[in-house]
Amino acid sequence: MIPKPSKSSVNTIGLLQNLIYTILLVLVILIYLIYLIFEGGESLFPWPQNTKEHQKVVEVEDLYTKETDRFWLAPDPESIKGSALESQILYGRDLIVNTAKYLGPKGSVAQISNGMNCQNCHLDAGTKIFGNNYGSVASIYPKFRARSGSVENIYKRVNDCFERSLNGMPLDTMSLEMQAIKMYIMFLGSNVEKGTVVKGSGLKDMPFLDRAADPVIGKKIYMEKCASCHVKDGSGIKAGDGVVYTYPPLWGQHSYNDAAGLYRLSNFAKYVKYNMPLGATYEAPQLTDQEAWDLAAFVNTQVRPHKDTPDDWPDISKKPIDHPVGPYSDSFDAIQHKLGPFKPIADARKTQK
Ligand code: HEC
Ligand code: HEC
Repeated sequence: MIPKPSKSSVNTIGLLQNLIYTILLVLVILIYLIYLIFEGGESLFPWPQNTKEHQKVVEVEDLYTKETDRFWLAPDPESIKGSALESQILYGRDLIVNTAKYLGPKGSVAQISNGMNCQNCHLDAGTKIFGNNYGSVASIYPKFRARSGSVENIYKRVNDCFERSLNGMPLDTMSLEMQAIKMYIMFLGSNVEKGTVVKGSGLKDMPFLDRAADPVIGKKIYMEKCASCHVKDGSGIKAGDGVVYTYPPLWGQHSYNDAAGLYRLSNFAKYVKYNMPLGATYEAPQLTDQEAWDLAAFVNTQVRPHKDTPDDWPDISKKPIDHPVGPYSDSFDAIQHKLGPFKPIADARKTQK
């Protein structure tokens, strides 16, 4: 039988419509997949940030911050008991505390880092006030960072520390471990309003010295106040199992590399001033500013792993004044950029602007 022409054209239109729908559907799925890969599945989870209950918490916290200058307080892990995210968040916390156990040279999941734990530098699982905590990470990332010249998300920032502070290799973005670390960091920041840096987070600022920091004085202080735990040669002390450090290394082949954040004198000085020797806090520091700077000068002039970073600082004028590796956009030499005095460099920058 020969079909009537009119019916055939209806069929063709129907076919065409189906084809267009299919193409559209495939496109939508593709876009969604690309979104997931780049946005990292944040949307996959019902994050408490969006619930009414959470918004109330934020408002109260905000009030406190404004009226009493109250410091950030990490949310209580008890608050997620029984929630769908509990095991993932607790795994994330465990990875921060016991990184070497899972991901160190003898790691049970992968062998991609130097044996240190994230917690060695992000104290109390990233919750200690001015102990380099993660309080403001969820609220300020993704953010632009001049080091890479790009907008960085939490994955990129975490992998920066894997590749530099832990002198290792990056984690796959979609791995259970990266997802868990991210969820834990999001949990810690869940009581901080998006876009704000909360009081007490990260490291506490401290004033520059009038002189250059002095490695010779620093060495003397190190032998008196640090060597008992970190050892004279800076290599730290491992626990009996040989897998994790009881006292982490400060230099040498198992320490952070020369592209890490702590390799900048100011970061090191801020960290030790308010956290070392073990037990020191911002309320009860045990070192003077001078001691902290001189210790930083001593430790960061010892031998440590090198990492090539040809893509860092696409705009060299944005390098921090204590960035120890040239080239620079000003006339101060590399030694002054490493050890100071930093005030003249800071002043020169101000007049430039
Ligand atoms: C050797 C010390 C050290 C270790 C170990 C370390 N970090 Fe860091 N990390 C730092 C320092 C210092 C900074 C701040 C650097 C800066 O501001 O330039 C930082 C910053 C960060 C930030 C951004 C914080 C912010 O407020 O912007 C994240 C996230 C982070 N680290 C995650 C990790 C994770 C996850 C690990 C373990 C895989 C880790 N770090 C291990 C020293 C370390
Ligand atoms: C009583 C032992 C003890 C003393 C003394 C001590 N530390 Fe530490 N230090 C530690 C421990 C333990 C950690 C890791 C903390 C953690 O994982 O919770 C640490 C971590 C560090 C870190 C970051 C991790 C790393 O290995 O790079 C630096 C830097 C540091 N100490 C410097 C110093 C300096 C400088 C002194 C001397 C003023 C000092 N410490 C004195 C026990 C000590």
